[in-house]
Amino acid sequence: MKVIHDVQEMQSVSRAAAVQGLTVGFVPTMGALHEGHLSLVRLAREHASVVVVSIFVNPLQFGPTEDFEQYPRTLDADCARLQGEGVDIVFAPSAAQMYPSDATTVVHVEGLSDKLDGRSRPGHFRGVSTVVAKLFHIVQPACAVFGQKDAAQVAVLRRMVRDLNMGIELIIAPIVREADGLALSSRNAYLTSEQRKQALVLHRALEQIAALAASGERNASKLRATALAVISSEPAAQLDYFEIIDPNTLEPLADVTHGALAAVAATFGSTRLIDNILLAAV
Ligand code: PAJ
Repeated sequence: MKVIHDVQEMQSVSRAAAVQGLTVGFVPTMGALHEGHLSLVRLAREHASVVVVSIFVNPLQFGPTEDFEQYPRTLDADCARLQGEGVDIVFAPSAAQMYPSDATTVVHVEGLSDKLDGRSRPGHFRGVSTVVAKLFHIVQPACAVFGQKDAAQVAVLRRMVRDLNMGIELIIAPIVREADGLALSSRNAYLTSEQRKQALVLHRALEQIAALAASGERNASKLRATALAVISSEPAAQLDYFEIIDPNTLEPLADVTHGALAAVAATFGSTRLIDNILLAAV
């Protein structure tokens, strides 16, 4: 496994792979890797002959009061795990290389970027779409794998790839959870054991409305009210949003007959967690 820190070196390795007719599968991450990330790597391996994983804690997607400084950085341990998965290349650039001080170009997916997490984290999705567009240009993959865990990110990036004719296949991997249902996240490391238990309320609320929807309840406000009641039973949960929306437009739905995404964000102590579930069409 090759670890590349330099943007130009990564770009020339990508070009060489293209000349040899190799298919590159790409998994962008911010590191602190867990089984959720590794599931994306395995999916990339099924679709491509060369697997590239990027590890870059992107300053542009963190707000001024967010956890950029505190975000876990575990490059050596991450590389060991990726080597174990048979990854070909780890791309771990520096912020200075990714963002020269006079860089002024951004990619902004209008509309979608202001919804869900974008509403409570202004500028977050502009940072995500900008860095992913840059990474796509550097790595030049045929396909890229993202997790359903970040459902709004998936909607934003799908739109970006379509609008800018990037011609990259996006593969979306299901959410990997702990045995008790907690969605794996690099930020779970911030939780105390008490908060970790409290955080399970998010998955409970999602499961409950998925069961209700499966048993025939189509009314989104009733489903939402049920979820809110479950979440309010846990006083430690500070709710940011709970929405039942179209997974592509992120617009609220009144009725879930044609399928829907139920998405939640809440803070436990100072740790903000997100989770979601897809409600199947009937
Ligand atoms: P990060 O939070 O490191 O996540 C990297 C990828 O792993 C994302 O596609 C995310 O959805 C996926 N992922 C995280 N937890 C998961 C879980 N429990 N199950 C399945 N997939 C999971 O998302 C980012 O980084 C950044 O925004 C990035 C796209 C790298 C741009 O900086």
